[in-house]
Amino acid sequence: MAYPLAAWRPAIDVRQSRRTYTRAPLTQEQTAKLRRLCKDFRPFDDARVELIEDAGDLFTSDDVGYGRISGARTALVFIGRVKSPQSDLHVGYLGEAAVLEATRLGLGTCWTHRMYSASTVASHVALDYGERVVAASPVGFVPSAPSIGERLQTLSPAATERLPVAGIAESQCLTHSRGMYREPLEAVRRAPSPLNRQVWRFTVEDGCLCLTLAAGQEVTRCPKRIDAGIAMLHVDVAMAATGHEGKWETCGSAPVARWRPRLAVVDDIAEENDRRHPIYT
Ligand SMILES: Cc1cc2nc3c(=O)[nH]c(=O)nc-3n(C[C@H](O)[C@H](O)[C@H](O)COP(=O)(O)O)c2cc1C
Repeated sequence: MAYPLAAWRPAIDVRQSRRTYTRAPLTQEQTAKLRRLCKDFRPFDDARVELIEDAGDLFTSDDVGYGRISGARTALVFIGRVKSPQSDLHVGYLGEAAVLEATRLGLGTCWTHRMYSASTVASHVALDYGERVVAASPVGFVPSAPSIGERLQTLSPAATERLPVAGIAESQCLTHSRGMYREPLEAVRRAPSPLNRQVWRFTVEDGCLCLTLAAGQEVTRCPKRIDAGIAMLHVDVAMAATGHEGKWETCGSAPVARWRPRLAVVDDIAEENDRRHPIYT
């Protein structure tokens, strides 16, 4: 099912990782909307998202460098097929769609790749052969102001501050085709990433927006391709919101993927016409 991606654009600006929850259950409407997303938004066959309604003590682990998630009763779990080469990308894309839908519904979230109990997840979700839980997020009501614990966790600017667009994209990305990539890059800058590592990098090649992943020391074992998938969703959402059509083509490792505008096809046709009928040039 095609989802109205543009409806998630405002959620990109207001989303922030929240780690303290009120224990209040989701409303029936919120639950139904999240369930519908999990069921209907399935563009890939190697990734899916499931909602666990009473997750109990799913988020229990104390994790050095991160802190604790408390009070969450409901969770989104992000599942991928181990052997599929693109599954981490797809988990990132779908997981972030669920996170933005939850944000749109007024709920808090926090991606986590390690602060949950795998055995508790397994008791709530039936995994098919070859599937594994790659990451999860609590989802629920949060106090409007961050708790003391949350404030301590985000005390260091490194935990939340973002690189400028120029730090993630070469300058041509900002000027190409009347600046059509500027707004999607702004949307990517706001994306979540483990320990806020912000590894997305962009270039323009053949009119396409190409996504690569910054090399460098791993600060966490979370696969960078999850971050790439999250960035790809943010680009799609911003493109839809600004009325641009196109689609991602996944590649190998560099670039990981390129977003090809549909307009380029029109440009190609125009070029072909110019070649065949020089009178018009
Ligand atoms: C794939 C992924 C894994 C993450 N894992 C954790 C985690 O294990 N624990 C945690 O507290 N935050 C985790 N985060 C949240 C990041 O720390 C957070 O996104 C980042 O610091 C930026 O802050 P913001 O989300 O509030 O914008 C993760 C984020 C992503 C995208």
